[in-house]
Amino acid sequence: MSVKKICCIGAGYVGGPTCSVIAKECPHIRVTIVDINADRIAAWNSNELPIYEPELEDIVMSCRGKNLFFSTEVEKEIIEADLIFISVNTPTKTYGVGKGRAADLKYVEACARTIAAVSKSDKIVVEKSTVPVKAAASIQRILGANMNLDIKFQVLSNPEFLAEGTAIQNLLHPDRVLIGGEESKAGKKAIETLSEVYSNWVPKEKIITTNTWSSELSKLAANAFLAQRISSINAMSAVCEATGADVEEVANAIGMDTRIGNKFLKASVGFGGSCFQKDVLNLVYLCESLNLPKVAQYWQQVIEINNYQRKRFASGIINCLFNTVSGKKITLFGFAFKKDTGDTRESSAIYISKYLLDEGAKLAIYDPKVSRRQIISDLSHPTISTPEKVAELVTSVTDPYEACKDSHAIAVCTEWDMFKDLDYKRIFDCMLKPAFIFDGRGILPHEELNSIGFHVEAIGKTVSKGSAFMVQSNGNNILSPTSRVLP
Ligand code: UDX
Ligand code: ADP
Repeated sequence: MSVKKICCIGAGYVGGPTCSVIAKECPHIRVTIVDINADRIAAWNSNELPIYEPELEDIVMSCRGKNLFFSTEVEKEIIEADLIFISVNTPTKTYGVGKGRAADLKYVEACARTIAAVSKSDKIVVEKSTVPVKAAASIQRILGANMNLDIKFQVLSNPEFLAEGTAIQNLLHPDRVLIGGEESKAGKKAIETLSEVYSNWVPKEKIITTNTWSSELSKLAANAFLAQRISSINAMSAVCEATGADVEEVANAIGMDTRIGNKFLKASVGFGGSCFQKDVLNLVYLCESLNLPKVAQYWQQVIEINNYQRKRFASGIINCLFNTVSGKKITLFGFAFKKDTGDTRESSAIYISKYLLDEGAKLAIYDPKVSRRQIISDLSHPTISTPEKVAELVTSVTDPYEACKDSHAIAVCTEWDMFKDLDYKRIFDCMLKPAFIFDGRGILPHEELNSIGFHVEAIGKTVSKGSAFMVQSNGNNILSPTSRVLP
């Protein structure tokens, strides 16, 4: 069987770019992306796409209306498709058993039930969303228990490894495509059918096949390993600040060891995004469920260090600003969880804002791709701050120079390239003195800023004299006896 019609359920950050690229590379396949969110579908059908991703717009505009369609007619498109991708969200559970750790599979289950209820022909169902190990077996059971006897479903695991901001290049030139399926004859046939779709543009040797559980676990393992590298270098950044070592030099030196490699060694304000925290917590929960408490504790530490790094950065700002930020204007450069995306899910900027708002700071936030509405909504979440406090203390500013006017300090939270090219002399002149810059991403020209007159603090290095970033892991600042770390 070769695939003629694909239906992708879920028009989000995964489903949208992935299936747009499939449509581009497979003009002979009709691809329809469906979603229950009518506003999102309307945006995909408009000139302003609902997500920002470099190169995505060109691809959508060149295929839309030809072999790429966006629709809210979920059932109709399921009926017509030979192959269905499930690309719905699998957030961390906020209730019940596994609250705060396990993935919430209610959206995946709803898809499986709809597929079972409306299908009139055989289908390959592919889990694209990141799911806990054995989710495919649950989908297969739901389909099996509800299906008309004449219809056969094969469930495959085909996790997506794209990173936001580089999604299109990751999809066009993937390191690998991973397909997991049942080891039966029908399972192998389904794997072959999906491999055929990818082989339209991915070299055959990069398409690897495994059993379903290995595929599901590989996705969690890949994200856990990547997150662990960031927590490792961030842990090292604290040691650098306390010793006079420079984390960039250390990262460079260790990264040249081919066994370690140089990627994902950039110290930062902590990782954000919809995947890392969710997937590591998911892994922790899995290990606990499997009665492997030591393994669970090991991975939990990756999250602990990430939270610690966010607090450490906020504490460093407060310590430097003479131990109080109450009523002081602080400018945040960047709110997205990384550059080249407007996505703010789990962005460290949200947590840094929380700690500063708790201390009464006034925040002026500038991000080239995040809307004011999004910033206000993220900060008004009950776990972050109250709408009243946000209304009183937060402004979202559309011009970076305006954002810095009369500010005590700038905190770089996202590594947008444009922050490297701003006129910092002009910015210095309009700020209150002493003017502080906290470079949470290690992207600014520190020496130049120093010579303009800024007091510069950067993660994992000492730039200006008398660094207040030197906060020991026991919570004491080794330079200043009066300083504190946030609770
Ligand atoms: C990640 C995985 O990379 C991807 O394979 C998976 O499919 C989804 O999760 P994503 O979250 O989109 O992708 O972006 P990624 O580039 O991995 O960055 C995640 C976070 O880590 C960002 O906040 C980023 O700023 C931070 N990061 C990354 C660092 O702090 N230092 C680094 O060296 C790399
Ligand atoms: P991701 O980053 O994993 O792509 P998103 O939240 O961006 O996650 O996108 C998931 C999309 O799936 C949302 O637009 C949501 O409306 C959609 N969705 C969730 N459940 C269903 C469902 N049962 N049928 C159709 N779409 C769904």
